[in-house]
Amino acid sequence: MPRRLFIAGNWKMNTNAAEAVKLAKAVVEKLGKVQEMDIAVCPPFVYLAQVAAAVAGSRIAVGAQNCFYENNGAFTGEISAAMLKDVGCRYVILGHSERRHVIGEMDELINRKVLKALSDGLDVILAVGELLAERDAGTTLEVVSRQVKRGTEGVGKAEMARVTIAYEPVWAIGTGRTATPQQAQEVHAMIRSLLAALYGNELAQQIRIQYGGSVKASNAKELLACPDIDGALVGGASLKAEEFAGIVAGGMK
Ligand code: 13P
Repeated sequence: MPRRLFIAGNWKMNTNAAEAVKLAKAVVEKLGKVQEMDIAVCPPFVYLAQVAAAVAGSRIAVGAQNCFYENNGAFTGEISAAMLKDVGCRYVILGHSERRHVIGEMDELINRKVLKALSDGLDVILAVGELLAERDAGTTLEVVSRQVKRGTEGVGKAEMARVTIAYEPVWAIGTGRTATPQQAQEVHAMIRSLLAALYGNELAQQIRIQYGGSVKASNAKELLACPDIDGALVGGASLKAEEFAGIVAGGMK
């Protein structure tokens, strides 16, 4: 069975309450009935409930941008997977490069979050990607393999079916400098063969691998046409419903 495309908008630390609801409603208006692929929006924590209410009854799902690995307790400032489920999240993005490189999250911490989110019923978008210096040093495949391997350590086959990998080369995020379809496809194919080695070919063929990094309406089609690119994790362009809809249109057959 061909993999269903999965397009997710990572709003990052943007919008206020009114803007978040307005954007969510505009996404529903344009894309709320799309059957051909899976679509999600990932607003900041504080607007999740309002956005979930705004997309209710449509085919748009809601995701969070992070979570913690404990249930509850004295973890000031953290948010549990159960809390995210409670406010209507289906997905959580973990290991985003901004969390790795701005906040300092390491593979081991990300792995604990992945395991907890999956066991609490959230589907995970595990983001991986190399820095420009790593690409220039020729270590892209090594870095990305390590992030995928360590990030998914201990994840069983049944739960792995609920993981999407998002390949986001750090040098392409928010820079306007998209990876070429060839550059992206090369890494996606490597990730899939790693997944085949870890989980068997059958499951590896089902796992979706999104590309992220300056995806916009004008370049989505050629990226999404690559055999191992199964969707997009969209930052800046997901803040405009029209542009986000253009990306989804780029994935239509
Ligand atoms: P941009 O689409 O703004 O480059 O961001 C990509 C990203 O980091 C999505 O998670």
